[in-house]
Amino acid sequence: MIKVLFLGDVVGRPGREFLIEKISELRSELSLHAVVVNAENAAGGSGLTESIAKDLLSSGVDAITLGDHVWDQKGFESEIGNLDKVCRPANLPKQNPGRTHLVIPANGFKIGIFTVLGRNYIGMKADGCPFRIANELLDELKGECDAFLVEAHMEATSEKVALGWHLDGRVAGVIGTHTHVPTADGRILPKGTAYISDVGMSGPHHSVLGRKIEPVIQLFLDGMKRRFPVAEEDVRLSGCLIGIDEKRGIAESFQRFELKKIPASA
Ligand SMILES: [Fe+2]
Ligand SMILES: [Fe+2]
Repeated sequence: MIKVLFLGDVVGRPGREFLIEKISELRSELSLHAVVVNAENAAGGSGLTESIAKDLLSSGVDAITLGDHVWDQKGFESEIGNLDKVCRPANLPKQNPGRTHLVIPANGFKIGIFTVLGRNYIGMKADGCPFRIANELLDELKGECDAFLVEAHMEATSEKVALGWHLDGRVAGVIGTHTHVPTADGRILPKGTAYISDVGMSGPHHSVLGRKIEPVIQLFLDGMKRRFPVAEEDVRLSGCLIGIDEKRGIAESFQRFELKKIPASA
């Protein structure tokens, strides 16, 4: 069985430092063959930079995915091409730079990974239908990969659940990200696809989606724009563990994963 750890949106310095601190220990303790991380909020809470991506990759991350915050950091559009283990959402307009998918080796097995962006209640315009683009990529890559993990970076749970059913039996996992809040619906669908609407975020949980609480409350009270600093407390890694059956390329096991940082003062 190929064991993969998928971690949801890494938020800011607290999220990435805890990830870097723990990753080699997790790789050996959980006998992981691959670690996939969404890092769309890794740089100051919004976007990614080449240097942060390199730090994550050199610490033991095998593949980095992104979401609607992909271009939030100035200049990342010219850096992403240098990063062969980073992919942007597959269904952005074709002119967008960056890879649409990754193929990562895991114990002699090849896992195809890509992210599709939702089209409901999400700020960034995806010009390709996530369902159709997923079909097309799976057709294109089927000779090259032994199994697939598809990330559903979407706001609407209906869109995520429907994508899970649409891909059931064709991929090892459909993993939801973007809302930063984990859901309790993780399971293996009847034809063998591990599914969860959202794995939650890897970052400070004493927060509103990773940001300090007070400025967000104030925004809801007065509607005025302000800075939303990344929070600091209750840092957790949040994700899921998928065991892939090597013969069939579908999920054999699935569980939610969460690791809480013990504060230095505790
Ligand atoms: Fe996010
Ligand atoms: Fe997002």
